[in-house]
Amino acid sequence: MSILERFSLRGKVALVTAGAGPQFGQSISSALAEAGATLITASRNRERNDEYAAKLRARGHDAHGLQLDIEDMASIDALHAEVLRTFGRCDILVNSALARDGHQGSLPEQTPEVWRHSADGDYLGLFEICQKFVATMAEQGSGSIINISSIYGVVSNDPSLYEGTVMKQPPTYNFVKAGMINYTRHLACYYGKQGVRANCISPGGYANNQPQPFVDAYCKRVPLGRLLDHEDIKGAVVFLASDASRYVTGHNLMVDGGWTCH
Ligand SMILES: NC(=O)c1ccc[n+]([C@@H]2O[C@H](COP(=O)([O-])OP(=O)(O)OC[C@H]3O[C@@H](n4cnc5c(N)ncnc54)[C@H](O)[C@@H]3O)[C@@H](O)[C@H]2O)c1
Repeated sequence: MSILERFSLRGKVALVTAGAGPQFGQSISSALAEAGATLITASRNRERNDEYAAKLRARGHDAHGLQLDIEDMASIDALHAEVLRTFGRCDILVNSALARDGHQGSLPEQTPEVWRHSADGDYLGLFEICQKFVATMAEQGSGSIINISSIYGVVSNDPSLYEGTVMKQPPTYNFVKAGMINYTRHLACYYGKQGVRANCISPGGYANNQPQPFVDAYCKRVPLGRLLDHEDIKGAVVFLASDASRYVTGHNLMVDGGWTCH
């Protein structure tokens, strides 16, 4: 098999949580679909996922929308059952959903309620979805889990970047993204012998019309001199999803333009 063939996802079923989201979600979903996977995108708004799946099908890919509330354990279990009923297997799981309501405000403004939201989606939800699908993958004897963490799961936010803006930096985000990285290592250690790999991708900031003072400060600090765009995460996703990375597990792949180099 040639190295390019190892990157192919033909014949594989891939589930992306929040895979219809306009930033990383669609980027991840389109990368997996373009690499040949049968793509399933799921989040709270089923219609939005169906619409995005229809767009991918119009481009010649095999894509489907389903419903998922990552804060609701019954919804996760129902999605797991539906994926197996309809597609018979799951080879790739990308956890990209983020319970944004759990990431409002900076430390002095946050309340236990905000932390509970974050815990429901980004802590219990991640536990439940990985527990369900890792068991399926172990039964299959193969599978790849990719958890989308962040530079802010590895280092703290740099307060000086936000000077002159009203941008808030919620500590819940640092808490869940750091925990996600080590939970992923746990999955890698306990399921590797059953053929399941688990890795993280930690992206830097996605260009999304942020205030100019922030953009200037960010671009000055990051070695590659810019924020991420729609294309930047795709290669990392396909690499970790495919057999091209078949001896890579428990890794946290920084897609950060060198942000964490210094
Ligand atoms: N945007 C960035 O700069 C950035 C940087 C590093 C990492 N990330 C990570 O990338 C991932 C995607 O982030 P993004 O910025 O593209 O999108 P986002 O943060 O705007 O939205 C997250 C997605 O999660 C979905 N979602 C929210 N609550 C949900 C729930 N209860 N159940 C199911 N889905 C739910 C939303 O529909 C949305 O599509 C996140 O995990 C985020 O932490 C983002």
